[in-house]
Amino acid sequence: MKLSNTLIVGNIISLLSTVIKADQCTFSGGNYYCSETDAIIYSNVGLSSSYQDVTNMDESTCQCSQQSTSFSGNLSPFNEELSVHFRGPINLKQFGVYYPAASSSSSNLKKRDNNDANEKECTTTKNHQHRHKRDVAVEVVEVTATVFVNAKGESVTPVGNINVAETFPTTTAAAEAAPEADNEIVSSYIKVSTILSSKVQPQEEEQTTTSTSTSKSTKSTSTSVSAPVAGAWERASYFTPGSTSNCTFMNHQGGTAGSGTWSQCFGNSISFANSDGITGCSSATPLDDVTVASGKEFIIFSGDSCDGSNDGCGYYRDGIPAYHGFGGDHKIFVFEFLMPSDTSGSAMNQDMPAVWLLNAKIPRTLQYGDASCSCWETGCGEMDLFEILTAGSDKLISHVHDGQDGGTQDYFTRPTETSLKVAVIFNGNDNTIHIVEVSEDFDDVLSEDTVNSWLNQAGSAAALP
Ligand SMILES: *[C@@H]1O[C@H](CO)[C@@H](O)[C@H](O)[C@H]1NC(C)=O
Repeated sequence: MKLSNTLIVGNIISLLSTVIKADQCTFSGGNYYCSETDAIIYSNVGLSSSYQDVTNMDESTCQCSQQSTSFSGNLSPFNEELSVHFRGPINLKQFGVYYPAASSSSSNLKKRDNNDANEKECTTTKNHQHRHKRDVAVEVVEVTATVFVNAKGESVTPVGNINVAETFPTTTAAAEAAPEADNEIVSSYIKVSTILSSKVQPQEEEQTTTSTSTSKSTKSTSTSVSAPVAGAWERASYFTPGSTSNCTFMNHQGGTAGSGTWSQCFGNSISFANSDGITGCSSATPLDDVTVASGKEFIIFSGDSCDGSNDGCGYYRDGIPAYHGFGGDHKIFVFEFLMPSDTSGSAMNQDMPAVWLLNAKIPRTLQYGDASCSCWETGCGEMDLFEILTAGSDKLISHVHDGQDGGTQDYFTRPTETSLKVAVIFNGNDNTIHIVEVSEDFDDVLSEDTVNSWLNQAGSAAALP
């Protein structure tokens, strides 16, 4: 969330997917916005590297200690435990997490109640969930090519140490071919599918060419063929307003309402959130059907608490309610939310709602403050799923921040009136992350077919370097 505006390097957009035709992209508030999309697909996710893990937060010196921790494997570090973060104005209608049925313990099939909706202290009312169907057919035009654009949206030759010939062998040809291709596609669109990537695969180049010359429909399936997943997926965590199963709502009210802590050094820790999402609470409490105001943030962890041993949580700040995030190579987050406009106030981040994922170690140490007190700055992982970058914008942008950096200029339309349903699929089979607008119900079990149809929803590609 902190790096969103830093991606324009010199005059070249160092981003991975955009549309170069100036009249197709708009430059607004320091950011480019190109086509509306209903799916964003990150490929080549995961690297072997290391980050600085916090090992201690010293309340007498206000210093934190860190130690290098290496990571590798599919989707890493996004295979580590993630916490789910929200900033208002937002009204969360549903949230869930699914895992492949085969690798879940059989206890997943049982309803989990230990953390469910029954705590008294802070709970006010329970509301029935409101579902809104949203079935917008979004036109995703797929003529892909690899080009650089400058700050005016013009195609340019990159400067600096980028070896264009080696990295982008078919760039010019593809870019020039597109407008001449005699097909029905809106040929004025040229999507930049890969920029600044040193690992453009030959196959990708082929797909690019194919897409350029043959794509006719407004929904192309050519950008990404995803490894299918086998078997059903089971819902391990679920929320509807007033009710939680294996998820815990938190915010940053530590020390104010009976949970968490405050100190001169590190300020308010995380705490259980009240049902309004804004105040604190002494115990885990489900969020109500509320619109959390601009600038206010809440977090969802799982219902499993860290036990202080070597259980994967790592070091966490003393005195906090510490809960596990959502880990694993294969996981699906589902969301339904509204982001009403909120122009009345003057909060920091006024009218800039967002949903994002962090390595769960970050909020359990220090989310905002001294960089040495969390692993954030050293790349333990942030993924911005849906983020409004300038106040009042209606375009939700996605971005990855870790050792790999990338995103797209294509956007989901902000759901100000009717809620948006989306799934975020971490597919450890092929190292992709798919962010997909969906219409299905978020039932106890997602069938293999449903998940594979989500994986095959065409959209905007964002290959990570
Ligand atoms: C609760 O969520 C955690 C994190 O996703 C998961 O590991 C655990 O299996 C879940 N518990 C149940 C009973 O589903």
